[in-house]
Amino acid sequence: MKGIVILNENIGLAECSHNNNVIRLLSSVNNTEVIQMDILPDSLLWMSPGDKDCTEFYFVLEGSIQLSLEDGDQILAKGDSFAVSRIKTEFPIKCLEKVRLLCVSNQPIFDDMYNHMGSLKELVEKTERKNQYTYDHGKRVMEYSLLIAEELKVDQAIHNVITMAAALHDVGKCFLADHILSEDRELTSDDLRQIKKHPINSYRLIASKFDDKIASMAQMHHEKLDGSGYPFGLKAREIPIEARIITVADVFDAMTTDRPYKKKKEYREAIDELVTMVNQYDKRVIYALKRLYQRGALERGDRE
Ligand SMILES: [Fe+2]
Ligand SMILES: [Fe+2]
Repeated sequence: MKGIVILNENIGLAECSHNNNVIRLLSSVNNTEVIQMDILPDSLLWMSPGDKDCTEFYFVLEGSIQLSLEDGDQILAKGDSFAVSRIKTEFPIKCLEKVRLLCVSNQPIFDDMYNHMGSLKELVEKTERKNQYTYDHGKRVMEYSLLIAEELKVDQAIHNVITMAAALHDVGKCFLADHILSEDRELTSDDLRQIKKHPINSYRLIASKFDDKIASMAQMHHEKLDGSGYPFGLKAREIPIEARIITVADVFDAMTTDRPYKKKKEYREAIDELVTMVNQYDKRVIYALKRLYQRGALERGDRE
């Protein structure tokens, strides 16, 4: 950039909005970005561990925000500021009223912010465009999960949570690089590290639009009863029935679907294998799935 650049109020180099929340890129020079954010009350922003060299500085121009930190909440009002660098775990920022923030970052972050905005519908569509498997998979996992929930006669409230959480459980994959999603080559340890983040990204995306319970159940879909799952290695008593159902439906669909690197198993073969995995997955859920199969209730539908 040379000389003087003047931007009149509310005009930026780039802008994106969703539900009347607006982020506007005011300046981008030598990797340093200045971003203005107009956020409505009760919206959540997430601060995530990003690039280790990235420092973000936020100044509250209007309104007030609540930072939910590990050692307690911090309220910041007009004139207050905070800086974020090399954080280890993500934390949420709640906007308590209409808020205007000014952010200065020494690395480009606008594109990332842009990607995190937008409706879930857009995200699902984006995921679909990126990877047809992920989209169809979400639909099937929802159908299997609901059949299992009916078979186990769980409460209607649980059905509602399962419907949304199962359909959207992998939506966090939309941030994965294309080469990881296409799975046509062997994944590196870094690819695997990226993949293991997707439940947390699903949580973030879902929690911004839906009840926290729905987001939490989606986040747990790779947890296992023996604590060997991810992202948190939760153990049996920490994993509620909604997540146990979605997990079994997820594994069953992965087993019975053709992927570039493996042939699909027949339903019977997959269920026989699941029955041997009761240390990892809920026995009641597996046997409910088995009964559904034996009654012919698991339709392959348009999958074949
Ligand atoms: Fe997943
Ligand atoms: Fe999945």
